[in-house]
Amino acid sequence: MAERNVVVVGATGAVGRTMLSILEARNFPVGELRLMASARSAGQKVSTRWGEIEVEDLVDANPAGMDIALFSAGGARSKEHAPRFVEEGVLVVDNSSAFRMDPDVPLVVAQVNDHAAADHQGIIANPNCTTMVLMMAAGPLHRTHRIRRMVATTYQSVSGSGMAGMEGLADEAAALIKDRDALAKGGWVDPSEGLYERPIGFNVLPMAGTVTEHGYTDEEWKLVNETRKILDAPDIAVEPTCVRVPVMVGHGIAASIFFDRPLDAATARAALGDAPGVELWEDKTPTPLDTAGVDNVLVGRVRGTIGEDGGINLWAVGDNLRKGAALNAVQIAELL
Ligand code: A2P
Repeated sequence: MAERNVVVVGATGAVGRTMLSILEARNFPVGELRLMASARSAGQKVSTRWGEIEVEDLVDANPAGMDIALFSAGGARSKEHAPRFVEEGVLVVDNSSAFRMDPDVPLVVAQVNDHAAADHQGIIANPNCTTMVLMMAAGPLHRTHRIRRMVATTYQSVSGSGMAGMEGLADEAAALIKDRDALAKGGWVDPSEGLYERPIGFNVLPMAGTVTEHGYTDEEWKLVNETRKILDAPDIAVEPTCVRVPVMVGHGIAASIFFDRPLDAATARAALGDAPGVELWEDKTPTPLDTAGVDNVLVGRVRGTIGEDGGINLWAVGDNLRKGAALNAVQIAELL
């Protein structure tokens, strides 16, 4: 592959740092590398295999001469700055939700719907981290049996909320464990500082994201709408519940999937065993801890449904910073 000039926007964040390490690990043919973030980080030096690079303030950085920009600095920054990068001829791979549902913007899970990437007009969107992990498992089954309906409950780690999420969990857990009895008997003191609506340390929040329409959160709507767009199947019915769990890295999804025609567990296992980017675990249950720092999505507990025949229950879990974000963005850049 010819060398490309690459800029990482949001380079100091949880996903941005992972993007940098993935570019290095995959020997991405980087010509020039530039790093951008907010004014708070401007001037910071980051040592990379392409030398020590000074972080630039996104607001006044001119992207002329760059080929690819990997954006992960939040939707507002993408909306404001991605168009001017495109005007300078830079291909933007955007990890935010800003353009995902734009009909002119492909939404690509590498190894699931690669073909969609070709049809871009300067921006390609990286799907939501949870949707991405689920699509790695659902895509190979949809290809042969067409998904009709899916009930999906997610178990989302705090790194989905960036560096602040990981620091918040560590702080809350440290504060709460000081009075261990109170965690079992009551009387605990809420240590949270507004990261989420309720404490996340030693807890489970059955509502990840912000409530929007019909009592569902924005995260839940992403699971509905992005699934339909990625699988190019606007009629799939998705029943989502997004849950935040006290895990640093790794989003898991328990899904019940029903198809146009019955699918048995052995056929589903064979399809998942052959799927690129997926590891089928049959002897051990894959957990978020197993995915930390791992590229593949791990799938386990593949079972035929017992209430209504012909469907599949499964568990998929993946590193939300890698396949759920940074790795997929780099894979999209590689496709092009
Ligand atoms: P900074 O570190 O300078 O705030 P995370 O969510 O993991 O913390 O990462 C968010 C990323 O987006 C960081 O690199 C952060 O930079 C960047 N970012 C946040 N706000 C802005 C902004 N207003 N302009 C440019 N980059 C921003």
